[in-house]
Amino acid sequence: MATSNSLYQRAIDVLKQNDRGTYSLPTHGLYPVQFNWDSAFAALGYRFINQHRAWQEVMQLASSQWPDGMIPHIMFRGDHDGYFPGPDIWNTGQFIETSGITQPPVLASVVRQLDEAGPYRDVNGMYDMLRRLVRWHDWFMKARLDPQSLGIQIIHPWESGRDNLTDWDQGMARVEIADLPPYTRRDLDHVDSSQRPTKEQYDRYLTLVKFGRDRHWPQAYLGQNSPFRMVDPGMTAFLLRANRDLIVLLNKYLPEDTDSIELIQSHINTLELGWINLWNPKVQAYTAYDPVLQQPIDSVSAASFLSCYASMHNDLHHGHLMDQFDRIANKVKFMVPSFDPEHADFDAKRYWRGPVWHVINNRIGLGFSEVGEHERAKRIRKDSEDLIAQSSFYEYFNPITGDGLGGKDFTWTASVYLDWVMQEADHGQD
Ligand code: DGY
Repeated sequence: MATSNSLYQRAIDVLKQNDRGTYSLPTHGLYPVQFNWDSAFAALGYRFINQHRAWQEVMQLASSQWPDGMIPHIMFRGDHDGYFPGPDIWNTGQFIETSGITQPPVLASVVRQLDEAGPYRDVNGMYDMLRRLVRWHDWFMKARLDPQSLGIQIIHPWESGRDNLTDWDQGMARVEIADLPPYTRRDLDHVDSSQRPTKEQYDRYLTLVKFGRDRHWPQAYLGQNSPFRMVDPGMTAFLLRANRDLIVLLNKYLPEDTDSIELIQSHINTLELGWINLWNPKVQAYTAYDPVLQQPIDSVSAASFLSCYASMHNDLHHGHLMDQFDRIANKVKFMVPSFDPEHADFDAKRYWRGPVWHVINNRIGLGFSEVGEHERAKRIRKDSEDLIAQSSFYEYFNPITGDGLGGKDFTWTASVYLDWVMQEADHGQD
């Protein structure tokens, strides 16, 4: 097992190795491009090297905003050779080459954390960031809100960041695979196929890209008409929390902008209702929801436990949700598996169908600490530390064996280690 001193140094090295000057890569080889939520988490880690660099990361990310307000999931900056699907396949026609979908909105929450650690030195840059965040969060309500459940829907599994989660299977089964030109997956050059989405899933992923590209990416239309739509508790909780963090920042920097403050407050009110609607009495957890069939998905994923992070714990369901947490905690060595280990489709190695991801652990753990669930928060943090000590800074981990999976030397795992795992460790008693 590595010691905390050597892990600290190794985490810094991982960040430096994936630094492209003004933006970061999630890791070499597998992901040679800037990803939205990876980049936000990277900033949390960069501030242990250089605060200015951390701010630069989030400013670069926000600068990729589309005229309609969306901040996309991938930015093709610099040499992106080897990433598939590349900019020609997305063909979004934007000034900066990007993908045509978004990713979980954690940026405002990270900006608030950075601001608390040391404000950005250019206050006009901060104003610009906040205005971009208001527009992005408003875009979600126009282009991704499901009017029925009031939760946030995804139009592509990649939008959720939890690509091949079992919860999306029902929606994916409705996507009729298009006549696609032959393609070569580059991810399998870097990671064993047993740890990645299947060929059939990739055919559907590319079919959805073709659907958006053929229509020139009309986001509000796609929100209502994409062949794949699913309401995601992850997106809903991330956006709800991000709106709360954004209000704090607006009150600090732009208190005279009452229009924006009122707008974001009204979005909070809507999303609170949306979150409550995602309670699934049959499985006793917040779950995904199928907006086409208008019925819940009956399985528990790690996102079910984001209720505290979204400050939605003051309801009668909290106790039941904690029972679910404890049930799962008794089944795995390392919390939190991305999918219910007692479900027939659980797969301890395959990407989002079972493995542990440190960014999700970090957000669930923060939420638990904030609402006084200290013992459970401690379990998550300690398991996160043990996984890194056992297997180093992998992309994700087997929740049963602790083996590292996916990409090596991963930016967000190193960032979460520096910003949370290491900071809260009680080294005196380790
Ligand atoms: C990938 O390439 O697997 C990414 O997760 C897509 O967003």
